[in-house]
Amino acid sequence: MVLKKLANEKDLKLCVVMVGLPARGKSFISQKIVRYLSWLSINCKCFNVGNYRRVLGVDNPKYGFFDFDNLNSYNIREKALKLAFEDMLSWFDDATDNKVAIIDATNSTRERRNWIIENCNKNNVHPMFLESWCDDSETIMANVKDIAITSPDYDGMDEKLAEDDFMKRIENYQNVYSTLNTTDDKDVTFVKLINISHEIIINKIQTYLQSRIVFYVMNIRIKPKCIWLSRHGESIYNVEQKIGGDSSLSERGLKYASKLKSLIKENVASNDEQNLSVWTSTLTRTQETAQYLPYKKLEWKALDELDAGVCDGMTYEEIEEIYPEDFKARDEDKYEYRYRGGESYRDVVIRLEPVIMELERQENVLIITHQAVLRCIYAYFMNVPKEESPWVSIPLHTLIKLEPRAYGTKVTRIKANIPAVSTYKEKGTSHVGESSSAKGSHNLLVNAPEINQN
Ligand code: SIN
Repeated sequence: MVLKKLANEKDLKLCVVMVGLPARGKSFISQKIVRYLSWLSINCKCFNVGNYRRVLGVDNPKYGFFDFDNLNSYNIREKALKLAFEDMLSWFDDATDNKVAIIDATNSTRERRNWIIENCNKNNVHPMFLESWCDDSETIMANVKDIAITSPDYDGMDEKLAEDDFMKRIENYQNVYSTLNTTDDKDVTFVKLINISHEIIINKIQTYLQSRIVFYVMNIRIKPKCIWLSRHGESIYNVEQKIGGDSSLSERGLKYASKLKSLIKENVASNDEQNLSVWTSTLTRTQETAQYLPYKKLEWKALDELDAGVCDGMTYEEIEEIYPEDFKARDEDKYEYRYRGGESYRDVVIRLEPVIMELERQENVLIITHQAVLRCIYAYFMNVPKEESPWVSIPLHTLIKLEPRAYGTKVTRIKANIPAVSTYKEKGTSHVGESSSAKGSHNLLVNAPEINQN
């Protein structure tokens, strides 16, 4: 089956078609791509065929339902695919900005994949297949256990029985599975991940957007890890309510710097501590905050604070007085507003992309940086919509622990109990100070313990 010639990149509608046996991390990878592209303001949506099958009334199927000789159930599963596909086409029609759809299913036979290619061709959508091939029994078993607990298919079922049933479901797929290869599928755009990132086969990648997705999935790791986030300690500029600059820490900020080492030690697992690395910006206040930490350190220019351009070194009150229109425009659309001669939140997200890519590859990292930069990093992990991200509360003297999991990120906020000013500015005022409407506990996907450290 040959792909249709590509449309202009700017008009391109891309359908990422997942391929692989059950328990190979397809949904995990799909969710990550949606989160990554949405963070970059590329509209992306995932269509999970299992969800459509449940809508068709098959919500607790046993393994026999996935026997390919069972014509009745085969037809239901094909119908579910068609519904997902139709919804995807309507979503593409809804807005020209809707660019990337993901069909999350096993798509394990060449026959099914040919149906998808044919129907994509008819509708000017370009399919890119993304196979997760895995024979690592440890990874597979971990996924099976996770699915037995979390899948709605096994709601209320004993965990062990669910695992056994799921293993038999996998066998049914194994009987018909044909993996992608560069001979039979030489004309098809595909990426094949072998044991996540151990080996990667790439075929006929043609556009910038496709190559960005490929580069991202190449960097995905599945080993559990912790990302620690901290603002620098309170700075002299913070006390004076000025933004930007390159001032040193205040006395209280230095106290936080001294306490940070024990704060980490008390909350990090000892084998994670051994390979912890600390990333700072190039500015004095983050380096002073990291000065007592006995871990390897890396400075990133990309972690410098959002550049406030002509407003650098001013208080919000001065900005409101001298640049009233800018002050208002920023409040109205804080994500897009770019300071005169400076940056917007969108600009910061773009320069943070290499940092995110490296974070995906790393195991345990503590990032000491600035309010706006941390809001952008937090938004990536916590899936915060871009319009809301500039309003997330990231207080001083608080360590944030993020633990990315298969279907979300667990967040813990650890307060150092060292007083500091608040630099949070609400919409519509030039006064600083946190109120209860600050969006600090946004989208806490697992839970949000808050720890006070004395
Ligand atoms: C499902 O019904 O759970 C998914 C269908 C498929 O991927 O084959």
